[in-house]
Amino acid sequence: MRHLEDGFGRRFPYVRLSITEACNFRCTYCLPNGYRKSAPHDFLSVDEIARLVRALRSMGVHKVRLTGGEPSVRGDLTDIIAAVANAGVEKIALTTNGWTLARRVDAWAAAGLTHLNVSIDSLDQKSFAAITGHDRLAEILDGVESAMQSGLQTKVNAVLLRETLANGFEAFAEFIRFRCVSVRFIELMRTGDNADYFQAQHVRGSTLSDWLAARGWSPVARASDAGPAIEYEHSDYLGRFGVIAPYAKGFCDSCNRLRVTARGRLRLCLFGEGGVDLRDLLRSDGQTDALIERMRAALSGKVRGHGLANGQYGDTRQLAEVGG
Ligand code: GTP
Ligand code: 5AD
Ligand code: SF4
Repeated sequence: MRHLEDGFGRRFPYVRLSITEACNFRCTYCLPNGYRKSAPHDFLSVDEIARLVRALRSMGVHKVRLTGGEPSVRGDLTDIIAAVANAGVEKIALTTNGWTLARRVDAWAAAGLTHLNVSIDSLDQKSFAAITGHDRLAEILDGVESAMQSGLQTKVNAVLLRETLANGFEAFAEFIRFRCVSVRFIELMRTGDNADYFQAQHVRGSTLSDWLAARGWSPVARASDAGPAIEYEHSDYLGRFGVIAPYAKGFCDSCNRLRVTARGRLRLCLFGEGGVDLRDLLRSDGQTDALIERMRAALSGKVRGHGLANGQYGDTRQLAEVGG
C-alpha cells in the first residue's frame, strides 16, 4: 500500500467527504440566512463516491467522515454509507445536526456507520432554537440516545460562543456525568461571511481548557486518526470534554485529514483555496491509477498550516460549503 504523504511527512488516514452543500438549519455562525442554492445540485453520486473511496482505501485511508451541509438531507445517505463500507473502510463517521437522527440512525448503523458527531451548541431549549433557527433540541437529544443504543460511538459538538458561556460548561458537565459521550467545544472560526459575528462571539479555546484544569480534568493522548480535539477525562464523569482550538499554536502540525467537496474537489486545507478537481476521473471505472496520481501530486502543494491567525481564511465563506 502506498500511503498518502505530504512534504512535511504528514500522513492522511482520514478523509472528510462532503456529500451536499445544502442544509436545513440556520446556525448563526454558519448560514444565518439559511442555505441558498447557487448552482445545480449535481453532487457526487453513490457510484462516484464508491470509486473515490476505493482509491482512497488503496492509499491507506481507513476513516471516512461524511459531512455537508447537512448530509442527512440526501435521501440516499444510507446507500452512501453502505458504499463506503463496501470499499473496506473501517471507520465510517457522520457529522450531523441530528434533525432525523432518532428516525434513521438504526438504518445508518445497519449500513455500516460506526461513529457519529451531533452538533448541539446549547442544552438550553431557547438558546438552541435561537442559534440553529429550529426548536428541536428535545428530538435531537432523543436521537443521541438512540444512536448510543445502536452501538455508535457518539460525540457532541458545540461551538464556543460568548452568548452561551455563562452556564454552558456546567450544563454539559451534568450531561456527561452518566453518559459515555464526548462533548467537544469548537473555537469559533472566522470565515468569509461571519466577520461581525466573529468579532462579537469569538472566545479562546483556552477558556474551556482553563475551566477544566481548575476542576481536575486531565488531557488524554490523541489517536493517530483522531480529529483535532484535545479530550479531557475525570474520574467522576463517564463522558469526556474536548477542546478544538484552531487558533492554538501548532494546531496544524498534526493534520491527518484531507477533504473532498460535494462536487468532487480535493481540498488540502479547510481554509485553503480552490482545490483540485477529481470529478472527471470519478465518472467511470478504470481510472483509479490516474486518480491516485492526481491526488498524490496535489499533496505536494499542501502547506504547513492555515493562516487564520493572520486573518487568512482562504476562500471558505462558511463551513457548510466545505463540510467543516
Ligand atoms: P473526530 O473524528 O470524532 O475526532 O471528529 P472531528 O473533530 O474530526 O470532526 P467533526 O466533524 O466533529 O468536526 C469538529 C470541528 O472540528 C468542526 O468545526 C471542524 O470544522 C473542525 N475541524 C476538523 N478538522 C479541522 C481542520 O483540519 N482544521 C480546522 N481549522 N478545523 C477542523
Ligand atoms: N466555527 C467553528 N465551528 C463551526 N461549525 C460550523 N461553522 C463553524 C465556525 N465558523 C461547526 C458546526 C459543526 C461542525 C462540523 O462545524 O457546528 O459542529
Ligand atoms: Fe447547517 Fe452545520 Fe452550518 Fe448549522 S453549522 S447551518 S447545521 S451546515
